[in-house]
Amino acid sequence: MRATIIAGNWKLNCTLEEAERLARGVMDAALDAPYRQVVLFPPFTALERVAKVARLGPANLFVGGQDLFWEDHGPYTGEVSAPLLVDCGCRHVLVGHSERRRLFAETDEATGRKVTAAVEAGLVAVLCVGETLEERKAGSTVAVVERQLEAGLGTCKPERRAQIVIAYEPVWAIGTGETATVEQAQEVHAAIRSWMVAHCGDEVAGRVPILYGGSVNDANAGELLAAPDVDGLLVGGASLDAATFSRIILAGRLG
Ligand code: PGA
Repeated sequence: MRATIIAGNWKLNCTLEEAERLARGVMDAALDAPYRQVVLFPPFTALERVAKVARLGPANLFVGGQDLFWEDHGPYTGEVSAPLLVDCGCRHVLVGHSERRRLFAETDEATGRKVTAAVEAGLVAVLCVGETLEERKAGSTVAVVERQLEAGLGTCKPERRAQIVIAYEPVWAIGTGETATVEQAQEVHAAIRSWMVAHCGDEVAGRVPILYGGSVNDANAGELLAAPDVDGLLVGGASLDAATFSRIILAGRLG
């Protein structure tokens, strides 16, 4: 019913040559998992190159941007817009990654504008949400995630909500080697699903994939994917090695 999505967030890594090699290196695994969607998020400079590789590859291999600005064009030095991402072959875009929120002062309000701009241009917006360690310790995990969902999706037209993917990425698990347990991930994913039911209705809630991210690797991918509300994975560090990411693409293989 829901597509399983295995996404690789390459962050600020990869020259053109490295990007092309990495994309070619995961093609076979994508081919072997035709019911899964594999989405690669290279840096802006490598998008077109990776999109070209993806076009020659299996139909379930997609490319996305790591960020976007909400205006389509104009005097916004350094920014990239949704139509420009579409133009260089993107189908997806990440919005509100915790590194954007934390290091580049991206606000909840900005994530809402970005999600709306992305889906209006026909992109799939992967909205990232997640709590810090302090917020988890204070017992406010679900409240934080709900606030981020409200802000991120609040201005998105109901008919565009099928173009949304949610990525739950606890900030304390990103790049730290400390993964959420399957129970912790499932608990928050179920809360996200309930929020979606209450705000978008059963049909949309049933269709929106919810990915887990935060120190995913080839050893923990299978058990995370087995949780009922974990519909895929957003992988950072472990997506930079083609063999490791290929094993993650094939992990568990329930669908
Ligand atoms: P990580 O990053 O897998 O290196 O923890 C995940 C992410 O930031 O998307």
